Amino acid sequence: MHRPLLLATFITCALLTPAAQANENPVPRSVGQPYAAGSLADRIVLTPGANASTQMAVTFRTDLQQATGLLEFGPALAGPQVTAQVQQLTGETRRLDGENGPSLFHQVRLEKLTPDTAYVYRVKGSAGWSEWQQFRTARASFAPFTFLYLGDTQNDILAKASRTIRQALRSVAHPALVVHAGDLVASREELAHDDEWGEWNQAGGWAYAAIPQLTAAGNHEYLDTLLPDGSEGRNLSPHFPAQFALPRNGAQGVPDTSYVSDFQGVRFVVLDGTSALDLGTLPAQTHWLEEALKSSKATWNIVVMHQPIFTCARPEDTEPLKTAWKPLFDRYKVDLVLQGHDHCYSRLTHAEGRDATRKALKANQAIGPVYMVSVTGSKMYGLNDRARTQPDRSAEDTQLFQTIAVEQNRLGIRTYTADNRLYDAFDIQRDAKGRKVLHEPKLHKQAERFCNGETGPDGLPCTGRAK
Ligand SMILES: [Fe+2]
Repeated sequence: MHRPLLLATFITCALLTPAAQANENPVPRSVGQPYAAGSLADRIVLTPGANASTQMAVTFRTDLQQATGLLEFGPALAGPQVTAQVQQLTGETRRLDGENGPSLFHQVRLEKLTPDTAYVYRVKGSAGWSEWQQFRTARASFAPFTFLYLGDTQNDILAKASRTIRQALRSVAHPALVVHAGDLVASREELAHDDEWGEWNQAGGWAYAAIPQLTAAGNHEYLDTLLPDGSEGRNLSPHFPAQFALPRNGAQGVPDTSYVSDFQGVRFVVLDGTSALDLGTLPAQTHWLEEALKSSKATWNIVVMHQPIFTCARPEDTEPLKTAWKPLFDRYKVDLVLQGHDHCYSRLTHAEGRDATRKALKANQAIGPVYMVSVTGSKMYGLNDRARTQPDRSAEDTQLFQTIAVEQNRLGIRTYTADNRLYDAFDIQRDAKGRKVLHEPKLHKQAERFCNGETGPDGLPCTGRAK
């Protein structure tokens, strides 16, 4: 009588066992050399220029046979004869040798573009041209747009971060820009850096070639090196400046990883916290930051940096950066600070805590910058002792992405979990006098996600490790 039941139980166990094993043994990184440079160009990434209405840049990779960086571009046409009006440009080329063999990274800067105009381009590999990619320049003055903000992708980039990235990309109709707050890859001591960059590019695919990518460098974009005196030094990974042709208008001594980009009425100021903390460039970046904010004529000013001013996982805040940069954010009325590094979620308006935010909301009090921390990839840290009460909202053990709608008098920030459910929703609203208040629209949000002891918010073991 009980035999069928026993058999069913046995089959269920047999079916579950391999899946359980797969969980314990994560998907291995690429096997063999699928990420070696080939005869067609790959890793094609579009980045915004200092003025995104007239300047963009393209980076791509080829094998050694394609010795020069060749790009064709012209105005986008409605019909198929796109080649009729194109011009050919050459760029800078640098060689990179990694575990996948040698390759060439080419960078072509597109200048004097017409604002608010669609262009097409393609790039040359040794066996032929890529498909035509299409992008649109920003408008010369303010106009509403929506952009995406991603925290650390870093780990299991293809296996687990890609679904968050791809969900983000299809969550709004026309994402104008993708902001990455650093730690795009893990690198550092690990050897397989080129595979990670291959995974990062595969995760975003053609979208990275068509939508400008505004990237900040994290500590994991730096490689640990041993100095002659036995101490540890840090060098920027050669992949970062090879992969992104960013505007070289940053702080002295930080040419590849600090910059400003004006995008359709928003000034994005990108800082390099690792260089500031470990390589002695804090004074230079502080001086430059002040100039970048003081000279801004933008409708909104948004800072992008990796190490958070207010942490949600680490026991201490990033005090040197907090001391040097927070007063400038306050003085020059920065609107939003987008950060990563802590592998948790935090939206913080008042250092005094979420109760202070509630009171301010009720009293319609003016606010300063809103500080956000988010994470896209699989690596998680446990929350610190104040992360459940200091930020307005936080999360643990959760992959997330953000959509940010930019309007003349409102920034509409929405945070979604990787499975595309709304997690946080707030607006920064500004009145005619420039006074800003926080607004929380009444939308259905899921409950805050925390680990409870060893149990995570999905009822599975919590993966957030104490920092
Ligand atoms: Fe990280």
